[in-house]
Amino acid sequence: MKDQAHNLKQLLFDGPAREPQVTVYAVVSGKGGVGKSNISLNLALEMHRCGRRVLLIDGDTGMANLDILAGVAGRHSMINYFEDELPLEDILIEIQPGFHLLPGGSGLSGLQSQSREEIRSFVDDLMGRSYDVILIDAGAGVNAKLLSFVSFSHELILVTVPEPTAMADAYSLAKILSVYSIKEEVGVVINQVSGRREALETYERLEKVITTFLNLKVRFLGYISSDPKVRRAVNLQRPFSEAFPSSAASRDIGELCSVLLDGAQIRRTGTLADTVSRFMKVFS
Ligand SMILES: Nc1ncnc2c1ncn2[C@@H]1O[C@H](COP(=O)(O)OP(=O)(O)O)[C@@H](O)[C@H]1O
Ligand SMILES: [Mg+2]
Repeated sequence: MKDQAHNLKQLLFDGPAREPQVTVYAVVSGKGGVGKSNISLNLALEMHRCGRRVLLIDGDTGMANLDILAGVAGRHSMINYFEDELPLEDILIEIQPGFHLLPGGSGLSGLQSQSREEIRSFVDDLMGRSYDVILIDAGAGVNAKLLSFVSFSHELILVTVPEPTAMADAYSLAKILSVYSIKEEVGVVINQVSGRREALETYERLEKVITTFLNLKVRFLGYISSDPKVRRAVNLQRPFSEAFPSSAASRDIGELCSVLLDGAQIRRTGTLADTVSRFMKVFS
């Protein structure tokens, strides 16, 4: 009775309980080695600093290395959830309270043999942890796993560097997204530039070929300066924004984070239920 009264009061005064919202970002690139993992890790960390509960997923099956970059040792991966019935708590690595890493590697490729029901319960378990942001380091190139992650995400972050080879591969990936109508819009981050000017020049070149030849909207999200501190942090196995907070790269990550978080209010964020169904598409 007391419960009923409480529910009624909630309906009258607060409206129905709002479903928590989660925004899913997928970080992709055409070519490998352009900085996706470093950007994913530091962006996730920055979003966490801004008060978000963040899950970082290492979705790069070929080159899963976020645990190494973050300097945390992952003993388990997703596959242990199914085969050894390990609880999620034992698989997720807590980098900081409210900031978790789901390690990739063999766990991800092994997932293909799981049934939908098993994966559903895994995803329900994951979503039950009420993250505000899920950020996926989705890997490079055009393959089924990457494209699934792309369709699962609300926001696509395409990373490139100014080199012609990386730009050509970024365009090829954009072409696949457009030809197969996988995404209508892509956000672009230019990495390893001398500053905003080179970033914008590079972005404009990419935007020009994409909008001339493809049916795909593009948006400039930001850039990361070429900064020796990034390599130093990689060698220290620490996120650069934590090891060198006043470096140029850390400042740029901060700006990129603000652009994304400001945009998230008005852009597509999904309910948890919506996200679960997107997640199901990735693994089925
Ligand atoms: N902004 C940057 N400035 C300097 N070096 C960078 C920068 N971004 C990436 N790197 C270098 O490139 C390497 C590859 O980056 P990584 O994030 O692993 O790329 P990906 O995940 O796309 O393969 C890093 O180990 C680092 O040495
Ligand atoms: Mg990587």
